[in-house]
Amino acid sequence: MASFKDQLPKLAVIGVMIAAVVIVAGKIRGPGTEKTSINVNVPTLTALGQQGEKLFEANCMACHGKNGGGTKQGPPLIHRIYEPNHHGDQAFVLAAKQGVRSHHWQFGNMPAQPEVSAEDALMIVGYVREVQRANGIF
Ligand code: HEC
Repeated sequence: MASFKDQLPKLAVIGVMIAAVVIVAGKIRGPGTEKTSINVNVPTLTALGQQGEKLFEANCMACHGKNGGGTKQGPPLIHRIYEPNHHGDQAFVLAAKQGVRSHHWQFGNMPAQPEVSAEDALMIVGYVREVQRANGIF
């Protein structure tokens, strides 16, 4: 029988492996379990941005939060996931038109917002982009 001392290196290796798994698992759980509403720097909006903000507040804010900072019902849009390269303006038009199947978070699906036209959705994106830029997301 190997003595406890002989086993020590093996135990150390196992310990390190367990620590690594715990750290990696914590990372993978990722945004879904992250704090779901964030503090947003609010910029001075352009006139167009202000129109977009009104549409956003009427149609999107209930879930995406004041200034797009997120709520318990929906994710923050002022988030790197929604930077223009990853979710172009068209993603917003489609989200309003067709809804979104849950894939990035654990809030469930986003229902379609049929009262929001493509034109309105583009106004909303303009607003979201202004706020994103003020928060270092572009
Ligand atoms: C009833 C709640 C709710 C409302 C209202 C809502 N959303 Fe969402 N939205 C969600 C949820 C939840 C997700 C995240 C889905 C996921 O897990 O990826 C989401 C995701 C999105 C996405 C990401 C789409 C993608 O391709 O991943 C965009 C863009 C978006 N919403 C825009 C809007 C806009 C613009 C409005 C207003 C016109 C709006 N949402 C209104 C709940 C909502």
